[in-house]
Amino acid sequence: MSSFDPASIRSEFPILATEINGRPLVYLDNAATTQKPRRVLEASRRYYEELNSNIHRGTHHLARAATEAHEKARETVAAHLNASSSDEVIFTSGTTDGINLVANILTASFQPGDEILISTLEHHSNIVPWQMLCERSGASLKVIPCDDHGVLDLDAFRELLTERTRLLAVTWISNAFGTINPVAEMIAAAKAAGARVLIDAAQAVPHLPVDVQALGADFLVFSGHKIFAPTGIGVLWGRREVLESLPPWRGGGEMIKEVSFEGTTYNDLPFKYEAGTPNIEGAIALAEAIDFANELGMAAIHLHEKRLLEKAAEVVGGIEGVHLYGPSERAGALSFAIEGVHHYDLGTLIDQMGVAVRTGHHCCQPLMARFGITGTTRASFAAYNTMEDVEALATSVEKAAMMLR
Ligand code: ALA
Repeated sequence: MSSFDPASIRSEFPILATEINGRPLVYLDNAATTQKPRRVLEASRRYYEELNSNIHRGTHHLARAATEAHEKARETVAAHLNASSSDEVIFTSGTTDGINLVANILTASFQPGDEILISTLEHHSNIVPWQMLCERSGASLKVIPCDDHGVLDLDAFRELLTERTRLLAVTWISNAFGTINPVAEMIAAAKAAGARVLIDAAQAVPHLPVDVQALGADFLVFSGHKIFAPTGIGVLWGRREVLESLPPWRGGGEMIKEVSFEGTTYNDLPFKYEAGTPNIEGAIALAEAIDFANELGMAAIHLHEKRLLEKAAEVVGGIEGVHLYGPSERAGALSFAIEGVHHYDLGTLIDQMGVAVRTGHHCCQPLMARFGITGTTRASFAAYNTMEDVEALATSVEKAAMMLR
């Protein structure tokens, strides 16, 4: 037996023992959020039972212990991303928060004529903050098109990348179709053109090993809850010299050095970008979740999920009337539709059979518009999913198709 054993991984997740209508839960909505292993739940509880205190503020024992645990969590994240320093790790509430932070601190450096390049595959959270930046600054948004398989058109990308491009903001893995973008190549091209780069790694960090130094982007963002941690905690990694050159965004406690009514001086990284009491428990639980994922091995997780996705594409794709979206090389998610069947009806029916998937536009309305659809049904995978889950998905979709068509 391989050391990567999904059955024993499953047993670490209490919620996966849930039954829906008398059937075992088949949880395939991991791109929306993952379930939490017992040790992450315990890390949260232990924090409140043993350490709860505000950090960086008190001299008492608990304040020091909580500060130490929080900063150790930052080091765990930095090591996981291979950041050159934990000062480059800013805790946020999630991917959306991280992108909004970057969009706000970049605003003053944009002017009319400047361009921001995004792609058709972006989640709303990597579209709207840039539209808002454009409204504030007079810059314009350009969009890299994709082909009928949901693969970015790299020739079009190279044409759109000009001396006017000040920022490339692109997702690594599409949350809707599972497309894996060639980010290393895109980052290199954008940097050569003099643009800054932000990578939306919300769907990459849970599925792939990530090395920010090898990638060479300026910013990378992700959410903890998609990699077994609680909601409300996320990370903005930013290259030190870039973050140091940019202004703060939110003002308040902790992000300052000295405050007087005449003016304020700002704190060093990472605190300059962390105003107010942070999500201390969330950061500690995120570090526990990252340790858990690393003990399984990110490469092993990726390989296991790849096998599940290939099998899912084969069996679901083989059902009469099913159309698969996205390229054959996917990560995380498989999106599909049944001819003549509304995705909502399909999702509702298979939920009654215990299979949890997401239906709809997946916060990617422009991508859905590109394909002339209002949504898809999406099964998305995590380390604890098994081939039995894939079979249950296929069986439920086949039954639903017979009932609905
Ligand atoms: N971005 C999350 C998803 O794709 C919520 O479902």
